Amino acid sequence: MKKVVILTGAGISAESGISTFRDSDGLWEQYRVEDVATYDAYLRNPALVLDFYNQRRRQLFQVKPNEGHKQLVRLEQYYDVQIITQNIDNLHEQAGSSNVLHLHGELTKARSDRDDNLIVDIGDRDINIGDKAPDGAQLRPHIVWFGEAVPNIEPAAAMCEKCDYFVVVGTSMNVYPAAGLIHYVPHSSPCYLVDPKAVPISRNIKIFQEKAGTGVKKVVDELIAMA
Ligand code: APR
Repeated sequence: MKKVVILTGAGISAESGISTFRDSDGLWEQYRVEDVATYDAYLRNPALVLDFYNQRRRQLFQVKPNEGHKQLVRLEQYYDVQIITQNIDNLHEQAGSSNVLHLHGELTKARSDRDDNLIVDIGDRDINIGDKAPDGAQLRPHIVWFGEAVPNIEPAAAMCEKCDYFVVVGTSMNVYPAAGLIHYVPHSSPCYLVDPKAVPISRNIKIFQEKAGTGVKKVVDELIAMA
């Protein structure tokens, strides 16, 4: 089976009711990154940072995957499909996608403040000050904050190097290293973009300038027709 890699961002979850970050009604209009999404912010005011992610997690348990997430699952009958997502929600998994690599962490997991490899499932539970990991250290969200390393970028780049088709959905391509993954895609592999806004991408790419709810189906139909 040929390989399709799909890079998704906040836009694919927008129609489920989860805010994006950089649109006019986005999260970074309401919060400052430096206050809630850096390790320094967490050291300065852990209650505020934990609360920010507790709110995101509570919201996740009130929403459902949308047509964009669901259409990607159809592709698995025809292709070896790998999703690489910048999203911390689990809507791809809820929709039924089999292979999802999270670049920026996952809301339903927490980890030890002392040991990055000690990761625990927390489901819909809040993280509060005093909640301990099995090693006795404070639990922190299993999130890649600004300024932190992105451990999954290497496997993601290796997936991109081997893909036959590459699809980008709902990301402003502002945040590296995720935005650089497209440069690992072989020049011979066709690329597709679904986003209602114009996204600057410096390579030949077929653009569907519309929302994920309709645009993903068009890309999926086109890929299935070529399978
Ligand atoms: N369907 C598809 N795309 C959409 C939709 C929709 N219904 N609504 C908005 N978009 C697009 C916007 O046009 C924009 O290009 O989704 C993109 C969202 O961009 P950002 O808010 O910048 O989100 P993202 O690219 O995922 O951000 C990357 O930044 O703050 C960090 O860690 C956070 O993972 C996040 C990273």
